[in-house]
Amino acid sequence: MGILRKIRTLDDLPLEGRRVFMRVDFNCPLTDDGRVADDSRIQASLPSIRFAIENGARLVLASHLGRPKGKRVPALSMTPIGERLAEILDKEVFLPEDCVGDGPRKVIMERVEGEVVLLENLRWAPEEERNDDVFAQRLASLADVYVNDAFGAAHRAHASVAAIAGHFGHKGAGLLMIKELTYLSKLTESPERPFMVMVGGAKVSDKIGVLTHLLGKVDAILIGGAMANTFLAARGIDVGKSRIEADKLEVAKNLMSKAGNRDVDILLPTDAVTAKDIDDASMTETVSVHDVPQGSMILDIGPETAGRFAKRLSQARIVFWNGPMGMFEKAQFMSGTETVGKALAHSSATSIVGGGDTVSAVSRLALRPFFSHVSTGGGASLEFLEGRELPGVEALRDED
Ligand code: 3PG
Repeated sequence: MGILRKIRTLDDLPLEGRRVFMRVDFNCPLTDDGRVADDSRIQASLPSIRFAIENGARLVLASHLGRPKGKRVPALSMTPIGERLAEILDKEVFLPEDCVGDGPRKVIMERVEGEVVLLENLRWAPEEERNDDVFAQRLASLADVYVNDAFGAAHRAHASVAAIAGHFGHKGAGLLMIKELTYLSKLTESPERPFMVMVGGAKVSDKIGVLTHLLGKVDAILIGGAMANTFLAARGIDVGKSRIEADKLEVAKNLMSKAGNRDVDILLPTDAVTAKDIDDASMTETVSVHDVPQGSMILDIGPETAGRFAKRLSQARIVFWNGPMGMFEKAQFMSGTETVGKALAHSSATSIVGGGDTVSAVSRLALRPFFSHVSTGGGASLEFLEGRELPGVEALRDED
């Protein structure tokens, strides 16, 4: 298969008795008092972790957490993540106080087959984000085999993701990495038709690369969320006080004209839920997009639009969805996201969801299990769908 060309998997790697360095993305949200608020990213790497343990690896897990910018920020310690992992695995997870040096080396050397170490936050070291090769070599010296299961960080050319791979004779992708690449490449390598992309969220700029790249492959693009306001404005519709990106009007016009030339349908909202004040729930009004009251803003797609989008999605064979349809965090602007989310979740299409806000929306609606694939990578999935090479994937390929 194209994307997995010359990439070895856990099955191909020597694990028994070996020290296996597994890069994971345990960048989980924490509560104010420092506990793991959402362990989905830990859960997503469990198949690889269990596989390594069951096959006798001495497992060394490593991840970043947050953006400490090269400083030892105690609030971004991996300790709560390690504690949660220990609970899930029902076994001790050894937590050295650093990610390189004598401390972690000693903890790792003392481990026997099937035991698990979780290194401290890789981004406490300034060399990590610089993709520093000396630092990569110090990390690599802790283990015999390299596995990257951190799809969510694969778009970052950082030391533990990119430079490190060159220091191992045995390297490969974890099960989550393979699953992510396999699903996402269904969208880029001869996708089934009809193929539809539904986007929302705040900014046109976040999604335009993906829409442009996929234009030659999709049958329809459904646009909601605040980014739809910019497309409506580009069509000359007065969207009142709604948020638009004035500097992206030309980009939106351009995309619509290219889509027209290629017979790709662009579906925009025809009605909307509006309010004068986001915080005043009693004052919402559902109107045609041509009648948005002056002084009001669009905060969700309306029921007619949601129904039209849902109907269109039911005709698709494969759909990629990134971005909520409205300000779903507030109950009164959740309905559009809920209607299209349910339609997609219960359709027979292969449904692939990506992006932090979309994933929280589907989790909140308890729809997560009904999608074919919920990506753990927001930025990584978008960069992949923009047609860009991911440094963390390229580093895993064996040389020709
Ligand atoms: C993510 O949360 O998308 C990944 O863990 C990457 O984190 P970053 O955007 O801080 O590099």
